[in-house]
Amino acid sequence: MLNAKDFGSDFLWGIAVAATQIEGAADSYGKGLSIWDTFSKRNGKIKKGANPKIACDFYHHYQSDIALVKTLGFKVFRFSISWARVLPFGRGEINQEGLDFYHRVIDECLKNDLIPYITLYHWDLPEELSKNGGWTSYSINTDFNEFVSLCAKTYGNKVKNWIVINEPFGFTSLGYMLGIHAPGETGLANFFDAALHTAIAQADGGRILRAEVQNAKIGTTFSCSEIIPYTQSDADLLAANRVDCLMNRFFVEPALGMGFPTANWDVLEKFAISHSTWRHQERMTLDFDYIGLQNYFPLTVKFNAFIPVIQAWEVKAKSRKKPHTKMGWEINADSFYNIIKQFAAYPNIKELMITENGAAFNDKLIDGKVNDNERIAYFEIYLSAMLKAKNEGVNITGYMAWTLMDNFEWAEGYEARFGLVYNDFKTQQRTIKKSGYWWQEFLKEI
Ligand code: NOJ
Repeated sequence: MLNAKDFGSDFLWGIAVAATQIEGAADSYGKGLSIWDTFSKRNGKIKKGANPKIACDFYHHYQSDIALVKTLGFKVFRFSISWARVLPFGRGEINQEGLDFYHRVIDECLKNDLIPYITLYHWDLPEELSKNGGWTSYSINTDFNEFVSLCAKTYGNKVKNWIVINEPFGFTSLGYMLGIHAPGETGLANFFDAALHTAIAQADGGRILRAEVQNAKIGTTFSCSEIIPYTQSDADLLAANRVDCLMNRFFVEPALGMGFPTANWDVLEKFAISHSTWRHQERMTLDFDYIGLQNYFPLTVKFNAFIPVIQAWEVKAKSRKKPHTKMGWEINADSFYNIIKQFAAYPNIKELMITENGAAFNDKLIDGKVNDNERIAYFEIYLSAMLKAKNEGVNITGYMAWTLMDNFEWAEGYEARFGLVYNDFKTQQRTIKKSGYWWQEFLKEI
C-alpha cells in the first residue's frame, strides 16, 4: 500500500494551477490583455469557442479555493502571476490593483500555512509585447527581466520559492512553431528565435531572483516524456533520438551550461550556426536550486520520411490499444520512472521536483459526486513509480499534482477536466472528486 510517510517527513506535497487557467477577471481590475485573451477570439482555435475570460473566477474565489487546498491536505500551492495583470502593457506602467491581488493570494496561503510557489511565466504573454514579435523578438529579454524584477521586489520578502518558466518547450513549440497555442505563429524560424530568447530568459530570470530575494529557492520547469522507438530499426531509433533531443533535452541543457543539443542533426546544427548559440552559452546557464519536471505520458515514435524536418511520427496509445486518458495520452507509470532517471543522470542537477503530473478523464457529476476511480488509479501507479526512483537515490524533494480544479485547458477549452475538484463553470460550484478525498486520506498523517 502506498503511504505518504514512505516519501519522508520533509517531502513537499503540493498542487499546481496557472493564472490564465483559473483566474478569470481577464479584462478587469486594470489587467491588460494577454495573448490568450486575443487568441481565444480567433475562430476555431479553441474547442467550442471557449475563452479564459471567467474561467474558474478564482479572482473572486481565491479564499475558498485556497481553503480547499488546505482541506485536501497539501502543503504547497503553486500558482502563476499574470504578467499583464501587473504590467498591463508588458512594461512600464504598473497596475497596483494587480500587484495587490497577488499580495492577497500570498497572504491567504501564509494564513493557511501553505507554502506559496510562484511561477513567473505560465504562457500568458501581454498582448502588447506580442505586437512586437513576443518571444521571437530580442527585446523580450529586457521586458521579461523588468517583470521578474518587479515580482521579486514586490513579493520577495514573503515568497522564497520561485519557478522562472513553465515548460519552455510547450509554449515555444505549440505557440510559435505549430500555431496550436497563442500567439498562433508557425514555422521553424519563429520557433528557433523564441527558443533562444526563452533559454536566455530562464537563466536571466533566475539571476534576478537570486540578486533580489534573500534565501530564495529558484527553479524552472520542463515538460518531459520518455521517448520510445516503435521498433529497434535504425530509422525508428533515429526518429526517437530527434524527438528526445527536442522534447527533453532542448531547454534543460542550455540551463545546465551544455548549450543547445544538436544530436548530429543538420536542422539543429544550422540553428546553432545561424543564431551563434555558443555566444549566449554563459548567459543561458544558471545553477538552479532545483529542476521541475512535468510529466504526463511517454511517446512512441516511428520514422516517417513524409513528416517535414523531424521525420518522426507518433504512434498513438489508442492505435496501440494502450490505456490512455481523455487527452489520448498513454498511461504508463514505468515511463515516468524512466524519464525521472533520465534527468537524474545529468550530473549538475542538484535536486528534482515533480512540478506537475495528473490526468484528464471523462468526469461526471452524479448526485453531487464524482467517482473518478481512474484518476485515483493513475496517481497510485505514478506515485509508486516516483517512490521507486526516490528509493534508488534520486534526489526528488516534492510533487505537485495537476491540478486543484477543472479549468481552462488552453486549446482544449473546458473539455478536459484535470481537477481533484470538479467545477461547474455555470455556477462556479466546486465539488471535491473522489480523487480529492483520496489525496486527503493519503496526506492526512504527514
Ligand atoms: C502542462 C501545463 O503547464 C498546464 O498548464 C496544462 O494544463 C497541463 N500540462 C495539462 O495539459
